[in-house]
Amino acid sequence: MFQIRKFRSDDAVSLARLHRGTIRSINKKDYTPREITVWSGRSSAKRFRNLGEINQRYVALESRKIVGFADYKDHELMGLYIHKNFLGKGIGKKLLMKIEREVYANGGRTLKCISTITARPFYEKNGFKVVKKAIHQIKDQKLPVFEMRKKLIRK
Ligand SMILES: CC(C)(COP(=O)(O)OP(=O)(O)OC[C@H]1O[C@@H](n2cnc3c(N)ncnc32)[C@H](O)[C@@H]1OP(=O)(O)O)[C@@H](O)C(=O)NCCC(=O)NCCS
Repeated sequence: MFQIRKFRSDDAVSLARLHRGTIRSINKKDYTPREITVWSGRSSAKRFRNLGEINQRYVALESRKIVGFADYKDHELMGLYIHKNFLGKGIGKKLLMKIEREVYANGGRTLKCISTITARPFYEKNGFKVVKKAIHQIKDQKLPVFEMRKKLIRK
């Protein structure tokens, strides 16, 4: 079974590795090689440490190894990535539920996210609806994404 706890700054190296690994193996089916290179190449422990001070972040652990993480800020999910070898075990859903409960408790009644093409079916399955197609620009690359929203209810 996996556990969820708050991010600590010494998790940053593992998070950057997980993030790059998932993009390069899982997201690569939906994006061009150049998009994958630029997107995964931006990932670094420093970036994760810095964003960890701006966003609220939870990590999921299995046998003390980090297998996923999720970030949010105010009423927006800022990232949700599961280790490429741990997909489909309910970890993404558990992280999402944790954040939904926290946002609700803080007065949020909708949760926004900018979803990758890859994650769209996961978010739809979990109650999000597409608001519109969007572009996520990383350096010179314009990655197609979806703006999605979910109405939150008390659970
Ligand atoms: C999207 C992602 C976070 C899902 O995490 P996960 O741990 O594999 O998903 P879960 O096992 O918690 O799945 C929860 C539910 O969603 C469904 N689901 C998960 N991925 C799905 C997919 N690609 N298509 C359809 N349904 C999916 C599961 O079947 C499960 O349904 P159930 O509750 O009826 O059993 C993960 O696949 C991932 O890291 N993807 C790549 C990175 C990415 O694009 N992240 C989003 C950035 S915005």
